[in-house]
Formats: sequence, C-alpha cells, structure tokens
Amino acid sequence: MNSPSNLTPSAKRLISSMRDLGYEFADAVAEIVDNSIQAGANVIQVNLQFDGYDSYLTVLDNGVGMTPSEIREAMRFGSMRDYEQDDLGKFGLGLKTSSLSQCDSLTVSSRNSEKKVQLHSYSWDMDHINKVDRWEILPIEIDDLLNPVVEHLYSTTGTAVTWEKLNRLLNFQNPAGGRAENDFKKLIQDLKVSLGATFHRYLTGEQRSKKVMIFVNGDLVESWDPFCRTEKNTVELESFAIPISMDGKKGLVKFRPFVLPAQSQFSSSSAHLRAGGPAKWNKQQGFYIYRAGRLLQSGGWCGLRTSDEHSKLARVLVEIPAGFDDLFKVNISKMKINFPREMREETMHKLAPTLKKANDSYRTQGEASFSDTSVYEADDKQFEMLVSNSLSKLDSDWHLSPGTVGNVLPKLYGQATPSERRYLLRIFKRLAGEEKISEKTAV
Ligand SMILES: Nc1ncnc2c1ncn2[C@@H]1O[C@H](COP(=O)(O)OP(=O)(O)OP(=O)(O)O)[C@@H](O)[C@H]1O
Ligand SMILES: [Mg+2]
Repeated sequence: MNSPSNLTPSAKRLISSMRDLGYEFADAVAEIVDNSIQAGANVIQVNLQFDGYDSYLTVLDNGVGMTPSEIREAMRFGSMRDYEQDDLGKFGLGLKTSSLSQCDSLTVSSRNSEKKVQLHSYSWDMDHINKVDRWEILPIEIDDLLNPVVEHLYSTTGTAVTWEKLNRLLNFQNPAGGRAENDFKKLIQDLKVSLGATFHRYLTGEQRSKKVMIFVNGDLVESWDPFCRTEKNTVELESFAIPISMDGKKGLVKFRPFVLPAQSQFSSSSAHLRAGGPAKWNKQQGFYIYRAGRLLQSGGWCGLRTSDEHSKLARVLVEIPAGFDDLFKVNISKMKINFPREMREETMHKLAPTLKKANDSYRTQGEASFSDTSVYEADDKQFEMLVSNSLSKLDSDWHLSPGTVGNVLPKLYGQATPSERRYLLRIFKRLAGEEKISEKTAV
C-alpha cells in the first residue's frame, strides 16, 4: 500500500493570506490584550512609538510568562493548549494573525521565573519567511531587543509582544512624514476608546475579582459602560434567556435590555457625548455581545433589524454561554458574530417592549431631530388636533397670542414647503407640550 504523503503548506503563501483576515488595528491589539489577561496579568501597558520606519508597538504584561518551549509553541500557527470554559483564547492563532495583520515583524519575549531574571525571545519576520518560505521563527538575543522590553522583563515576570516594521500601519508615501505621524496619533486616541469598551468589565472588576489596568502610552484606559448604568435615567427592562442546543449540549443565551436616557435626560452633556461611544449614537444601538466577559460586538442588530433613529436609545447586553461559540460562528478575528437562526424570531419578539420604550423615550424626551421627517408629519386631522391642543395649553411664557397660534401660524402652514411644515409642526408640538425642549433641539 502506498504511504500517505505529508504536504506542508507554503509558509510564504499561507501566512500572507492569513494576514488579511480583516483585523482593524484596535481589534488586533485587543487579541494581544486577551492573551495577557488570560495569562493572569493585571497591568498591561500598550506603547506606541512613532519614529518613521522605526516606529513600533509593545504590549508589556505582568502575567505568568512563558518558558522558551512555551514561547515556541505560542508562536506556532494553531498552537496547542487546553482551554478553560471561559477562556479568552480559542483558535491558537490570535497572536500571530492579529500581529502580522499590522506589522512585518512580531517578537515575543517572556520571563516566567520570579527568581531568575531570564528572558527568551522569538520572532516571526516576514522578510525571512518570504526569503526561505519555511515555517521558521528566529531566536532573538537580548541585545537586539528594544530597551523598554528588557527593562520591563527585568522588573517582573510576564510577556512582551513587539510589533516592528509597521509597513501596513504606516502605509503612507512617506512613513516618516507629518501625515503618517498624525494618523498614528489618531490611532492612539481611538485605541484608548476601543480598549475601554472591549474590556470594560475587566477594567471595573465586574468580570474577575482582580481589576485589570490597561495603559496606552502611560494613560490609564477608562472603562466605557455601553449601558450607562450610573446614569439615573437609564432604564433596565426585564431580562430574559433563550435556550439553545448544540451537539446535544443545552445552554441559555442571556439578554439584558436597556433603554438609555435621551440627551435632555443625561446628567451632563459630556456624559451624553461619551455615551455615544466609539461609533457614535446611531451605530451604537443594538446588541452588545460578550464572550467570557469580553465585548465581541459593540452595537448593531446582527441583521435582525435595521438601525434607525427611533431605536437609537436601545442597547441590549447579550451573553454567549461558554462552549457555544460555534453556534454564533465566532470567527478568528473575534470581530464577527452570527445570530443563530433558531433564536432570531424569539429574540425580536422578546425585545418588542424594549424597542417600544426606546421609541417612546426618543419621541417624548426631546431627542427627535428636526431632520427626522416621520416625527414631523401630520395629516389634516392631526394638524387640527395639534392646533387645538396648542391653544388649550398656551401660556404667557411663549409670548404668542391665541390669534397667532390659532390663525396666523395655521395659515402659514397651509402655504409652507414640506421642510417649513416640519419646522412649524415642531413649534406646535412644543406648544402642545408633546415635545420637551432640550439644549440641543431648541428651535
Ligand atoms: N501574554 C501572554 N502570556 C502568556 N502566554 C501567552 C501570552 N500570549 C500568548 N500566550 C500563549 O500563546 C498561545 C497562543 O496565543 P494565540 O493568541 O495565538 O492563541 P489563543 O489565545 O490560544 O487562541 P486565539 O486564537 O483564540 O487567540 C496562548 O494559548 C498562550 O498559551
Ligand atoms: Mg489569543
């Protein structure tokens, strides 16, 4: 009988295609932070240094660290280890795929002994891979490491991940120029916001008893709670769970719906602005899907409905139970989630009261914007009612006479263009007490 043939894939070709799994910069960094948290770190320092072609990123943690053979295994595409139920890792790929999606050189340095100051480092270097086309990592001498990495691992056990040759990140005609530098600064700002959202439960200690501190270029990352639970006007609706099963296993997907306050009901305008989140209000409505306490998806309705103005105050916490990743098709970059088909109808049915409440708050609390046509449309009958309600509630604060409200404005309305009509309807809604005036929406 012929013996099986072992076909090793081309390293050059396979790695280069794995670099394009679609990581955004902040999501790639989050993969590295995942690993640090999983290794028990409670202080994680992300540093980005702009220096043209020599720019680099380091992620330094104070976790348990790795022995040299553990580092080599960690560097393997599809590395092997046993995973716990609520493990942040899953595929054995994140470290490599996320790093090489952003850089051409990934170095992992680690120290695992409390007593002995011994560190070991290995690199995946794309120039080397492209030359030899073999699955080879390079051992790196201490002298060739960046100073901050050496200093860090002299002071603690832990791991340092270094990204160099940031060609992909600094994809500018002149990677040392002002535009590249400005872009780099923006990346740093956005990274703080994104990590604050992705790991908010770890940052506050809600997830594990030990709080995690993440620093970006020395600044402590602030946690961002999508549900604004410290705002007194945030409403939490009744939570519910939907049973699911996979391969004979049964589990529960837990939902906690929230309706956030409209702008006028927030404690301050800065709190409202911050609550808008990384992608801003309209895009941040929807599901917040957590796996092992880490935010995988921040907003959006997973194709169950479209995002619109009327539901922008609705945010729903969704917890994927441990061991059910496959049902949600959690992909390697942990950036995409699929809602299992069998859950969709029940989910939307159970969310109906949340969406109604979000819509009501939006309409009554002065959140509706002038451009939102559906709120400012009325047929003749509705308009008549509105005029009569306005007259009955008219008070001296408005400095408008009943004649103006009952005759002049309706006449104007009759001759107005659609956009002027919306403007007038808005005034009538306020006169009738149907819409509160907030700072933002004052006519
Ligand atoms: N900062 C770290 N400290 C200690 N061990 C680490 C660290 N980073 C990575 N490792 C080890 O390297 C392994 C490979 O990491 P990698 O991110 O590639 O895969 P994973 O975390 O197992 O799964 P996933 O692909 O879902 O991220 C980890 O399983 C872990 O054992
Ligand atoms: Mg990982």
